[in-house]
Amino acid sequence: MSNVHLIDHPLVQHKLTLMRKREASTNSFRRLLNEVASLMAYEVTRDMPMQEVEIETPMEKMTAKVIDGKKLVFVSILRAGTGILDGMLSVVPGARVGHIGLYRDPKTLTAVEYYFKMPQDMQERDIVVVDPMLATGNSAIAAVERLKELRPKSIKFVCILTCPEGVAALQKAHPDVPIYTAAIDRQLNDHGYILPGLGDAGDRIFGTK
Ligand code: URA
Repeated sequence: MSNVHLIDHPLVQHKLTLMRKREASTNSFRRLLNEVASLMAYEVTRDMPMQEVEIETPMEKMTAKVIDGKKLVFVSILRAGTGILDGMLSVVPGARVGHIGLYRDPKTLTAVEYYFKMPQDMQERDIVVVDPMLATGNSAIAAVERLKELRPKSIKFVCILTCPEGVAALQKAHPDVPIYTAAIDRQLNDHGYILPGLGDAGDRIFGTK
């Protein structure tokens, strides 16, 4: 699978396994997702733009590199994307944040937009779209399509878990968008859930079931 970055770091894999467990509490699921997201942020931001600034060490002046964090926008797909956002922001606190509200029509499984709020000057920014689950790919495809209308510099997609169907769908629609994930599970079921997966990410983050 080209353009797919599988983040198989032992810390990420260990925490993902704990999250998958049926008995993981809402509290520990949320905390683990946060930790996984911040660990994944290292890989996602590997090629982030940097700028040089003048600083003074206790010894002398020097020119040093800092991340140009203001150019980066994390776009959270509501509502489950919120679970990844804090972890990403803990590593890149200067990043801007956009939100896109999409719900899955339970009958057609297609994405319906109900909210869209982005920072200004999107054509100058690199976008990282976050959603814990890339399942049918419908929400991800719709979100990326909508964001491309704003002509950003680049778009990446980050999830915790996906499946071959989700990867294929997103890659077919948007081959230019790299996918970062901690696992590619076996398959999608008839209801659009990933198997073995971890259940409904939104419900597990917010304790709504
Ligand atoms: N969304 C989820 O929360 N879980 C899945 O398995 C698929 C989509």
